[in-house]
Amino acid sequence: MAEAFNSTELPRDKAARYAALAQEIASVLDGEPDRTARMAVVAGMLAQTFPHFFWTGFYRVDPTRPGELVLGPYQGTLGCLRIPFGKGVCGAAAERRETVVVEDVHAFPGHIACDSRSASEIVCPVFDAAGGLIAVLDVDAEIPAAFDAIDADALNHILTQAFSA
Ligand code: SME
Repeated sequence: MAEAFNSTELPRDKAARYAALAQEIASVLDGEPDRTARMAVVAGMLAQTFPHFFWTGFYRVDPTRPGELVLGPYQGTLGCLRIPFGKGVCGAAAERRETVVVEDVHAFPGHIACDSRSASEIVCPVFDAAGGLIAVLDVDAEIPAAFDAIDADALNHILTQAFSA
């Protein structure tokens, strides 16, 4: 049985939880082509699986405004609607096209504080099957240093499975 934990603790079995979650997401998304629905499922199921995630969601690359991210499906409190490439953690991940892990958001230059509870954060780029950047996935936690290579690998696996296959 999965280990119980609450929103102020880090799960010790997170690799196992991510592995089960990746399978569940793949099964739910099977046959669903709509990208917005797929993003909504990923954001929702991540939030349900890990209580210490208080914001999970996507910022999409806006095709009508180059160099700008616009809020997509998410779970959590109100976030900012638009983020230019290069600004904050989301904009950094979009510009670099790589995962950014921030152990202490207060120490990240240009961090955009959408919610004062945010202590640590991970942002992963999301690519389509052709390798084009379509969005970033942003996950925030109230716990400092909540994210490490296990989260980065597992989240990128889920995103590849959901959007690049
Ligand atoms: N903290 C993010 C902004 C988005 S919200 O936290 C939902 C950033 O610095 O990019």
